[in-house]
Amino acid sequence: MQRPTSFQMDGRLTEKRRLNDRYVLLIFQLPIPLTQVQAGQFVQVKVDGSPHTLLRRPISICLLPKPDELWLLVQEVGEGTTTLCALEPGAIVNMLLPLGTGFTAPSLPSTCLLVGGGVGVAPMLMLGQKLAEAGHQVVFLLGGRTSTDLVMQEHFARYGKVYVTTEDGSLGEKGFVTQHSLLNEPHFDAVYTCGPKPMMKAVATFAAQHDITCQVSLENLMACGIGACLCCVEDTVDGHVCTCTEGPVFNTKRLKW
Ligand SMILES: Cc1cc2nc3c(=O)[nH]c(=O)nc-3n(C[C@H](O)[C@H](O)[C@H](O)COP(=O)(O)OP(=O)(O)OC[C@H]3O[C@@H](n4cnc5c(N)ncnc54)[C@H](O)[C@@H]3O)c2cc1C
Ligand code: FES
Repeated sequence: MQRPTSFQMDGRLTEKRRLNDRYVLLIFQLPIPLTQVQAGQFVQVKVDGSPHTLLRRPISICLLPKPDELWLLVQEVGEGTTTLCALEPGAIVNMLLPLGTGFTAPSLPSTCLLVGGGVGVAPMLMLGQKLAEAGHQVVFLLGGRTSTDLVMQEHFARYGKVYVTTEDGSLGEKGFVTQHSLLNEPHFDAVYTCGPKPMMKAVATFAAQHDITCQVSLENLMACGIGACLCCVEDTVDGHVCTCTEGPVFNTKRLKW
């Protein structure tokens, strides 16, 4: 598959929505409209004003409502993401995008299950949008440790049915996504997932047991994001490959995890 061209550009933060104490939605105006972006691709964001954040940080493209409007959902976990979440409208942020290889849609009209955990829900929004617009039926299954981890549900609901689980039972069914009653009668043609690795492995096992094709978006640690440093390699049936260029999206049949 031919990969779309990537650009380096300065995005201007036009809106910041603090969703709760850990998640922020950042909305950027881009100077160049992006017309060929795949759901699952990511942005390498330069974090200015953070003395220890020397490397860019990879953040999934959450949504491109317009070709020049970029939504990033950021979870504060360390200095880089906290600095990003502290930006105020008007801030200029340098970014490389779109990077990596995104999700592939089924060729026939299909029922697609999109499973997101924690901040792994971010690429699922754009994927849901693309699949729904292509005529597929979209079902979201979103999981978090507590209700605080479940953000932007109203946006997901635009593109499909939304089911949720929390480990503490504070919202939706109690437990892990793979324990949700929705999976008792699987009627899905394709499964897509992004989140913590144990969750993705469990989702992949569920899909394999029911002979459903499954694509995962890996969140390996990355440095360069462009295939130069080899710090993000993943073992696959084709050998070790860079997650940032060959992925982050993989068909689970390729992974030796
Ligand atoms: C392809 C890809 C897409 C991503 N999309 C998003 C997104 O949409 N929104 C978002 O908030 N985050 C996303 N991440 C994770 C994000 O890149 C990291 O949380 C961020 O780089 C941490 O930087 P920091 O300086 O805040 O934290 P650091 O100080 O670098 O690290 C703080 C803690 O977070 C852990 N950490 C760092 N990177 C990761 C990672 N990739 N996965 C799990 N733990 C990590 C570290 O081990 C450490 O414990 C994505 C990562 C990848 C590879
Ligand atoms: S992050 Fe450098 S090669 Fe992937």
